[in-house]
This record gives sequence, structure tokens and C-alpha cells, in this order.
Amino acid sequence: MSHVMNTYVRQPIAFVRGEGVWLWDEAGKKYLDALAGIAVNTLGYGHPKLTKALLEKIKSGVIHTSNLWRIPDQEAAADRIAEITGLDEVFFCNSGLEANEAAIKVARKYGHDRGIAEPAIIVMEKAFHGRSLATLSATGSRKVQAGFEPLVQGFVRVPLNDLEAVRQVASHNRNVSAVMVEPIQGEGGINVSRLEYLRGLKNVCDEQGWLFISDEVQCGLGRTGKWFVYQHAGFQPDVVPLAKGLAGGIPVGACVVGNRAKGVFKPGNHGSTFGGNPLAMSGVIATLDAIKEEKLMERAVKVGDLIRAEIRKQNVPGVADIRGMGSMIGIELDRPCGDLVLQCLQAGLVLNVTADNVVRMLPPLVMNEAEAQEVVARFGPVLKAFLQKRAAA
Ligand SMILES: Cc1ncc(COP(=O)(O)O)c(C=O)c1O
Repeated sequence: MSHVMNTYVRQPIAFVRGEGVWLWDEAGKKYLDALAGIAVNTLGYGHPKLTKALLEKIKSGVIHTSNLWRIPDQEAAADRIAEITGLDEVFFCNSGLEANEAAIKVARKYGHDRGIAEPAIIVMEKAFHGRSLATLSATGSRKVQAGFEPLVQGFVRVPLNDLEAVRQVASHNRNVSAVMVEPIQGEGGINVSRLEYLRGLKNVCDEQGWLFISDEVQCGLGRTGKWFVYQHAGFQPDVVPLAKGLAGGIPVGACVVGNRAKGVFKPGNHGSTFGGNPLAMSGVIATLDAIKEEKLMERAVKVGDLIRAEIRKQNVPGVADIRGMGSMIGIELDRPCGDLVLQCLQAGLVLNVTADNVVRMLPPLVMNEAEAQEVVARFGPVLKAFLQKRAAA
């Protein structure tokens, strides 16, 4: 019996080697990866630039110092993040929930600074922001929250893509200090915000003096063809939590602030022992540079569009919707489809199912079009067999 705590329902497969978009299990079987460790392995496996940067940092002997001292790699990583986000200040942490926890604290502090004793944050139905007490309270899923009550107070929930609901809250709740939104909900089923809605939401934030928090932990960092989804909508938020793909697999998170949120945190307001250490920062620098130099954002759009178009062409009965943006792909079926994960693994394809009935693909950004065709070639027959079997049953 394993001593690993039983918090995940795991597939009986262990990957032990990787190269590009390919993985090998302990028995030597080869798999095509269309999930990237849930949007983490941006550069796939064994990317030379990332490997070299990490090895050099390890060889320097200084993989960790402390935030008590200057960390030149952290300064260089923050400069790059400021450049791509258009924002000003970066707080480094180690995960998505920590980035969101920091964002929630910024929103509360911002509220207090404006004389609101009990600041509230507007959050969305079906959102996922993490599993700490504050972030699970912000999350719009009873499954994630059940058993952990009392929840953290101060969240007001509205449906995604419903601007009127936000205006309603604005009209009667004087405690709101921020809106927090995943512009494309990942765990919730690849639910894409309309760009018009995001712009409307930003206008309400500007009218009310609220912070706009764009949780781009899953959808950000090049996956949709721009660095961030808010850039498709053409405005700048105040707070952008990041993690997952930021260092190509090295654990790192970042809470990036600017505009109305600039300067809200002062020395002593927040901290992290590991956050921004030299090893993680060398991962950030190498990953962001590779995305830019290798034009991986353009590739992400081609690959995502190709996969969606090819699956659409197959016109499989039982597919209710095919959606997403760039290499963030959701295929909604008319029935629960968790079993598809193992069936695809048997066919040598790694993907995932979320929200019970949405097949999710988040391929590494290094995937090329031939490999994307191969994803479709492996997925199509498994999908058809799955839907036919269930239809006959
Ligand atoms: C949008 C979003 N925010 C936050 C998180 C939490 O990140 P982590 O698991 O690194 O804490 C996730 C994880 O799936 C996410 O998708």
C-alpha cells in the first residue's frame, strides 16, 4: 500500500521519460501528450534551453537564498513578466492558489485602504481558483468546498458572461473592491468569456473603482495566441495571478499587479520562503524566452485550431460542443466521459476530462501540426467507439 495520501484518483500509469510532446511509461510504451501536465509543461519535455538553464543554476550551488537578500534572477524574471503583462510589480510564490491568495489579499487591502471595512470580491459560477480556504471559497464548485465549511466570507457570486448580474451587485453592494474572473474557465469546462463581456466588466470596474483580477493561471502565458487573454480584449487588468506554465514544470506562481493595484502591498504585507528562488526564476526566464524566440504562441493557435476543426469535421453524434481558444480545447459530450481518459491512454494519448463531460486538451506549446494531426488520429476512433458503445447500452 502506498503512503501517498489518497487525494487523487490516479490512473495506473507512471511516466518516466519525456522528449518533446512524447512520454514513455515504465514499460516503455510511448504516449502523445495533449495535456502538458495540465497546462504546465509549456515547452514539452527535455527542452534544451530549459534543461540547460536549470542545470547551470544547480551547478552554481545557489538554488535557494532568501527574500531577505536581492535575487538577481528574480529581478530579471520580474522584468520579463512586467514587459509581457504591461503591469508593474511581481510577487513570486510557488503555485496558482498562492498567486490567487495574494490577489485576494491585494483586493482586501485595496478595499481597506479606501475605507471599506469588509471588502467583497465578485467571483464567477463554475470558476476554479485553488484549494486553500480563501481560494476554494472563491471557487464556484460545491464539490471543492464541501466538508471545508465555514467558508471564507467576502465573495459574491454571479454567472460568467452576465454583465447585468454584475451591474445588479454594483447597484446595491457598496463593499465590493474587486472582480475576479478566469477569462477562460479551465476546470469548469473550458468556458470562454465573450471579449465584449470582459470589456464590459472592465468598464464597470473603472466606473466603480474596483480592481479587475484576471486569473490567467491556466489560460495565460501564450496558450491562446497572445501572452494573456485580456490582451485579446484589448485592456489591462489590475491584478494577474499566474502559475502552471510559467517555468515549464518547475513549481512557481506569480501575482502581478499594476494600475489601481500598484503599491497596495507594502513591506511586511505578504511573503513566501521559497517564492522567487534562483532555481525557479531560471526556469521562468528560460521558459518565457523560449516561448518568444520560438514563436510558440503562433504555433499554439495553429495546433488548437487544427484539432478543433478536424474533430468538428468528423461530426460524431454525441459531441455537444467543441470550444476553446488556441491550445485550450474543450470537447463537450452529451454524457459523462471520465472513462475516456483510460481508453485514450490505452491508445497512446494523454488528455483529461473535466466538469464530468468535457474532454480537455492543453497540449504543450511546442506541439507541431503533424503531431496535432496525430492527436486527432488517436482521439477520433476512441471517441467514436465510446459514444457508440454508450448509445447501444
Ligand atoms: C484558473 C486556475 N487558478 C488557480 C489554480 C490553482 O493552481 P494550483 O493548483 O497551482 O494551486 C488552477 C489550477 O488548476 C487554475 O486552473
